[in-house]
Amino acid sequence: MRGKLITLEGIDGSGKSTVCQLMKNEKRFSGHVFTREPTTSWIGDAVNRALRSDTDLIAELMLFLADHADHISRLIRPSLESGSNVISDRYSASRCAYQGATLAGLFDEPLDWIRSLHKGWTIEPDLIVLFDIDPLVAVKRCGERGERSKFEKIEFLKKVRSNYLRLAADEPSRFVVINADRPLDEVKEDVFRTIAHAIEGQE
Ligand code: TYD
Repeated sequence: MRGKLITLEGIDGSGKSTVCQLMKNEKRFSGHVFTREPTTSWIGDAVNRALRSDTDLIAELMLFLADHADHISRLIRPSLESGSNVISDRYSASRCAYQGATLAGLFDEPLDWIRSLHKGWTIEPDLIVLFDIDPLVAVKRCGERGERSKFEKIEFLKKVRSNYLRLAADEPSRFVVINADRPLDEVKEDVFRTIAHAIEGQE
């Protein structure tokens, strides 16, 4: 039986990566394949280089897409076909939400355009868990990490969040929106329950 693909999404500082780390250590999720985008491949390295420099925004998007294509053929498809469940920290919705915001001045409907660029070759997740949080709270949480990149600015993250919420509204059956502005334990339990339910059909 084909495995299930679950993706975790949310703005920087939403707590997504922390919960993902906790999930890796949780017995009930052992045996699942944990992965992330940008990946740790050389294309993922190129993506990270682009993010740290003044790279053209379309070039940056294309690098993210190249990383996604390589991720799918190298890990996602083979894992799902061999029956493993895959949990990815960020996936296509990150592109729609983030590059949908960075390219907002260049196109009328960047989110729709980016979504269409994935059509025909991507593998759609069975479940997308969206860690939803006010960018003000998220940026405060990132305080310790400093002004890491352009992505951590509040105005920008407001656009990213609204793109995420639009994606969720467009596909309510694929998305579960989690209120991430709560104590970590509560968010974690909610996320674990949601994912276990999707994978095993259990509460
Ligand atoms: P990530 O390593 O997940 O950030 P974090 O340090 O919060 O764990 O991702 C790096 C940045 O890349 C993050 O700000 C989100 C952004 N990003 C995009 O803009 N588009 C994409 O398609 C992806 C996967 C990430």
